[in-house]
Amino acid sequence: MALRRGIPLLIQQFRALFTKNLILSWRSKRSMFLQLFSSLFFIFLIFCIQKAMEARFASTTSFENVFDPKAVVSPPIPPCEDKFYIKLPCYDFVWSGSDNPRLGSIVDRIRENNPGRPIPLNKVQAFRTKSEVDQWLFSNPMSCPGALHFVERNATVITYGIQTNSTPVEMRGNYEDPTFKYQIPLQIAAEREIARSLIGDPNFGWVVNLKEFAHPALEIFSALGTIGPTFFLAIAMFGFVFQISSLITEKELKLRQAMTMMGLYDTAYWFSWLMWEGIITLLSAFLTVLFGMMFQFDFFLNNNFAVVFLLFFLFQLNMIGFAFMLSAFISKSSSSTTVGFSIFIIGFLTQLITQFGFPYTTNFSDTFRIIWSLFPPNLLAQGLTLLSDATATPEDPGISWSRRGKCAPNDEECVITINEIFIWLLSTFLVWFVLAIYFDNIIPNSSGVRKSVIYFLNPGYWTGKGGNKVSEGGICSCISSVPRPENNTPDDEDVLQEENTVKQQAREGIIDTNIAAQIHGLVKTYPGTTTIGCCKCKKTSHYHALKGLWVNFAKGQLFCLLGPNGAGKTTAINCLTGITPVTAGDALIYGNSVRNSVGMSNIRRIIGVCPQFDILWDALSGREHLHLFASIKGLPPASIKSVTEKSLAEVRLTEAARTRAGSYSGGMKRRLSVAIALIGDPKLVILDEPTTGMDPITRRHVWDIIEDAKKGRAIILTTHSMEEADILSDRIGIMAKGRLRCIGTSIRLKSKFGTGFIANVSFSGGANGNPVRGEDVTTMDHEPVKQFFKNRLDVVPKEENKSFLTYVIPHDREKLLTNFFGELQDREREFGISDIQLGLTTLEEVFLNIAKQAELESAAAEGSLATLTLTSGPSVQIPVGARFIGIPRTESAENPRGVMVEVYWEQDDSGALCISGHSPETPIPAHVQLRASLTATSQRNVRSRAGGVHGIVIDPNQIGTAN
Ligand SMILES: Nc1ncnc2c1ncn2[C@@H]1O[C@H](COP(=O)(O)OP(=O)(O)OP(=O)(O)O)[C@@H](O)[C@H]1O
Ligand SMILES: [Mg+2]
Repeated sequence: MALRRGIPLLIQQFRALFTKNLILSWRSKRSMFLQLFSSLFFIFLIFCIQKAMEARFASTTSFENVFDPKAVVSPPIPPCEDKFYIKLPCYDFVWSGSDNPRLGSIVDRIRENNPGRPIPLNKVQAFRTKSEVDQWLFSNPMSCPGALHFVERNATVITYGIQTNSTPVEMRGNYEDPTFKYQIPLQIAAEREIARSLIGDPNFGWVVNLKEFAHPALEIFSALGTIGPTFFLAIAMFGFVFQISSLITEKELKLRQAMTMMGLYDTAYWFSWLMWEGIITLLSAFLTVLFGMMFQFDFFLNNNFAVVFLLFFLFQLNMIGFAFMLSAFISKSSSSTTVGFSIFIIGFLTQLITQFGFPYTTNFSDTFRIIWSLFPPNLLAQGLTLLSDATATPEDPGISWSRRGKCAPNDEECVITINEIFIWLLSTFLVWFVLAIYFDNIIPNSSGVRKSVIYFLNPGYWTGKGGNKVSEGGICSCISSVPRPENNTPDDEDVLQEENTVKQQAREGIIDTNIAAQIHGLVKTYPGTTTIGCCKCKKTSHYHALKGLWVNFAKGQLFCLLGPNGAGKTTAINCLTGITPVTAGDALIYGNSVRNSVGMSNIRRIIGVCPQFDILWDALSGREHLHLFASIKGLPPASIKSVTEKSLAEVRLTEAARTRAGSYSGGMKRRLSVAIALIGDPKLVILDEPTTGMDPITRRHVWDIIEDAKKGRAIILTTHSMEEADILSDRIGIMAKGRLRCIGTSIRLKSKFGTGFIANVSFSGGANGNPVRGEDVTTMDHEPVKQFFKNRLDVVPKEENKSFLTYVIPHDREKLLTNFFGELQDREREFGISDIQLGLTTLEEVFLNIAKQAELESAAAEGSLATLTLTSGPSVQIPVGARFIGIPRTESAENPRGVMVEVYWEQDDSGALCISGHSPETPIPAHVQLRASLTATSQRNVRSRAGGVHGIVIDPNQIGTAN
């Protein structure tokens, strides 16, 4: 099937990713709803605030046009309880001059003639003098709003004075003006009654009218202009946070890496997100304006629709660009809310400063304005200010489309026009977008890989013929040369032969058409890291994960890579798939080098990878996954559907095809990953532990799939199941500690590395063949057989119980076996044998042997010591893995050379070597040469600094025990 490439592939990928984004958004409806409809909630809040403000100012006429002011006619003295903040009981007024009966009657009349409300006697307090009033006021604060002081100069002259608490006070947004509320009514009442008293006519008319000026409305408080910036920023923050978290999740879960491995173009990736977010932003901005108009805000009704819409759209788009850029710096999706919150707080503060006039007034230089305008919320705040000022009163015309480039109405400073704000928003958005792509390339990805800081200067980057060279570590990490692992010649002849073959082919440029992939001395060293904490510097040293791998993978064959945890299998695969750059050496896949970007892009088209850990979107179904990856791979659109269905059927996921991968079981996820690896008919399939977590039935089924997939392609498989390796593999390579330890067919490895043959002898009379504990009985019954084995083959049973004897027969006795077993069979009756089974050792044993050998090597290289505690009491320090140990200071007349023991080693749960026991102490044979230096050391430094006695290592070859 011919895969698509070039522009058609780019468009196909873009469409597939766009659909993926659409599905993901659709599946998280809550966030989508918030993104689109949060504006309704915020505009409703603004509407409520606006209404509350208007209600608060309803008591004043300042905010309305007053053409014909109403007169207030002789306002009465209000009850003291009406005063804001008063202590009860209170007095409506107090007065001085109570010695004078004429003044007393004037006050009585003030009380009785108060318009609409005669004042009760107990609400007025009388004093003799002014100073008594002051004294009372001092000791009874907040008990009375006003005081009158009368003095009768003579029969025709009565003077008076007024005291009021002139502090203006505010209560729930209403201001109390003491002059108008208390002073003027008191004054009118005092003057009226004095006049009536002097004239002698108690009904003398005295009417005072009070009227404000006719005036235009003051600029009313605009909720939109004041709190709008914060609220509209909050609306944009939803999209911002969701965008950041989507991008980071794809990065964190290595989904993006998986897509890149399938040949995804970065351009398609970025534009698919941009397109989707652009549409969401467009809708969100449109709805914002619509809701604003629905609530009848002058801001939305009087300004031109397109102008208001563009401001919201460009601002939200700008924030999305900003999110793209910030996502490059964040590696955990859980941080996206924190980042969003921080941006919101910073935006809120800078918007506040913007509203105070910084820096969009003539007082500030352009430099301030340019720097300030780089942060999108500031531009929004200024834009909203211009638009709300332009509609401050219902008479203002607002900003029309044609006036967008001119000074806004009511904007005296005219430092920036709304059109300039649009241009700023659009150009900074482009800057963020370009920076997002740049930072995405130069900041280490989830595998710690990044491009050079000046990668874009390489012409190859633009022509697609290079410039994709990647390196590891942070941008600021000190580049120190990492030492290469020493170049050891392999001990194993097969590995050496493989290495020589590959080297020769590489040297002579031989292209073997049967070879699918060739690894040339692959070295991978993970650089050490330095993290600076608050108190100390944490350093980790470099680690050689692969120490020079030479191997050929043939077409039509399945190569099984085995090895203990941490052997470097996944690292080797990552090097082949380009996830991690190789430190040295190279790998050629169908002639394409992994070190070369053109080669790598060719490789991506012909390989299929099932990574060790499932890389799947929880919200996408199995079918959608296969559809997406098939599109990214470049399968012709007409065939995608049929290929997807076929793949699903192959891995038995047809029924679960519509179920989201998040609810798949572990085994189902693995099967989907295998299906993804096989999609697009790749020539090389790499499966990293594909059957982990599968039940035996499914596993066998997947084995069938793999077996079928072998035809016409090469497969590299890693597994920890020896059965799987045995059944599937054509060739097996066992790795340990970054090196290939052995290579060959399963039989070859078993015969070479197994301890030999396993013979199982069953005896008649055993309780159904079940092991019976009772060693005496067993030993007695089986003694003749044991003697027979001992005499003929010199072996002792490895395991024994009443019904079985199990022997491990070393390879070197292979020649004796035919006669031996012939004779044993003849004497079956005599020995009471019911059955004899002979087989090769298992692959598991080969694996364990290789792992143990690797442990021994590394322990020897590191010079690790272990403590051997002898059954006789003393302890000695011995190198890890040493087999024969002479015990110092055991020389005696009987044993002039001292005694020695054989140490048995086993691997613990973590694979490390530990002592499982030792043989009985035997004299050191006379022919054994104790190494001079060691003996000397042992004499001198028997006690090491650590306090232990060092054992004397004896070369096993001198002991001559083959087993
Ligand atoms: N990014 C990394 N940085 C540093 N060391 C790493 C990194 N990735 C892997 N290693 C180290 O490299 C070694 C090989 O790891 P690798 O994942 O290749 O092992 P493996 O053979 O696949 O093991 P397993 O069977 O557990 O999957 C390990 O010791 C691991 O700690
Ligand atoms: Mg692995």
